Amino acid sequence: MNGEEICKKLDELRDKGASMEELLHQAIELLHNSNSKYHWTGIYELFPDEVLRLGTFIGAPTDHVFISVGKGICGSAVADKCNKNIPDVSAESNYLACSSATRSELVILIRKGDKIFAQIDIDSHEPNAFDTNAVKDVEKVAEWLADLYEKHSES
Ligand code: SME
Repeated sequence: MNGEEICKKLDELRDKGASMEELLHQAIELLHNSNSKYHWTGIYELFPDEVLRLGTFIGAPTDHVFISVGKGICGSAVADKCNKNIPDVSAESNYLACSSATRSELVILIRKGDKIFAQIDIDSHEPNAFDTNAVKDVEKVAEWLADLYEKHSES
């Protein structure tokens, strides 16, 4: 499934009354299954204390349940307010290893303008696993989730 197809599926589930928790989990599951290079796929949510907290994920359990803004690739994405596509994690000094098998990592922010709600984090055992199309697909899902977080924060 590409990003657009995943979003259509999420629209259907939302229209059938799925909860926010279910929608977040489905988004991660559909993304994870969309590409055989994705070995760990999850959401970190940003809390007002400037700490990311691990939400729903698929893959091996990780020690990095809480990540402060500025720490690791996940925390740097928030500090720098930009997505991160890291082709070789071993070349990064600010990297928190979840699994020794991880070679590349993608972090896409779930945001509306300057307001960051959360992020999608994907690890791959293959180097340079995230090409332009893969990034576009994840960005599309992140945009869909940004609408969900925005609506949820208003209610
Ligand atoms: N590698 C991340 C930590 C999260 S795990 O990949 C699940 C980082 O450097 O922030």
